[in-house]
Amino acid sequence: MTQSPLRISKAVIPAAGLGTRFLPATKATPKEMLPVVDKPAIQYVVEEAVSAGLTDVLMVTGRNKRPLEDHFDRNYELEEALTRKGDAERLAKVQESSDLATMHYVRQGDPRGLGHAVLCAAPHVGDQPFAVLLGDDLIDPRDPLLARMIEVQEREGGSVIALMEVDPAQIHQYGCAAVEPTGDSDVVKVTNLVEKPDASEAPSNLAIIGRYVLGPGIFDILRETAPGRGNEIQLTDALEKLAARHQSATTAEERLGGPVHGVVFKGRRYDTGDRSDYLRAIVRLACEREDLGPEFRSWLRRYVTEEM
Ligand code: G1P
Repeated sequence: MTQSPLRISKAVIPAAGLGTRFLPATKATPKEMLPVVDKPAIQYVVEEAVSAGLTDVLMVTGRNKRPLEDHFDRNYELEEALTRKGDAERLAKVQESSDLATMHYVRQGDPRGLGHAVLCAAPHVGDQPFAVLLGDDLIDPRDPLLARMIEVQEREGGSVIALMEVDPAQIHQYGCAAVEPTGDSDVVKVTNLVEKPDASEAPSNLAIIGRYVLGPGIFDILRETAPGRGNEIQLTDALEKLAARHQSATTAEERLGGPVHGVVFKGRRYDTGDRSDYLRAIVRLACEREDLGPEFRSWLRRYVTEEM
């Protein structure tokens, strides 16, 4: 009897970046801790992993990232103070982040790129597929993406990346994919990948957004991947090798790493990667909140019509 493969349960969240685009806010605070409305950006990402069934979360951190560990840990003093006050609502908010998932941490040491950050997860992940979630992209919980990607990975094997159509003038900010259609309208086969191409050389306007479900075969490829764009080890380059090798494979061994598929996302995505996008994300999410939204939206309307 063949054993059915274990369900994917591990998420890796690279969080070692310096956040220089947000200085001076990020001088002593990790950029992942910047609030989006009233929750640190990173908590949305962990919540997304958990709602896709990934309750084992490894953060790849670096120096000055201690607040991340504290945020997902208990805070007994604060909990006691809130209990004494009888403030059950705020107590629940404090406890929520520490009860979310089983958290693990590893340090990246040298900041040698996203591919290198993912490689730091190899000992923890072992020999099973896993997800990677980048903190700069927030995916609206009403438009589940990761669960669909996991489904496709479990069916097709190999690796699955999230893709989204962007304005061709923006493609130089992303990894870009050349693709072929499959029988599913939201799934494509990836035939080529380029990290941050010039618009004139981009094979499409399909951008990689920060969600990946990767087969463990990626680790061996990352170990052999030389620094690419920005002199960093690029995850996109390793995935490109995987896709190319699978396409030209003639032996079962060469096919081992599996194909690379893309799930084309059409839902709501909020970018918190740079200051303008971050502000837009906060305004959009605040407008949609049940508690803050009605009052904030009517203020915003007044502000736009009367004061701008
Ligand atoms: C990374 C990836 C890139 C991807 C992007 C998504 O780039 O290297 O392929 O499109 O995330 O947010 P970064 O934005 O970290 O430079």
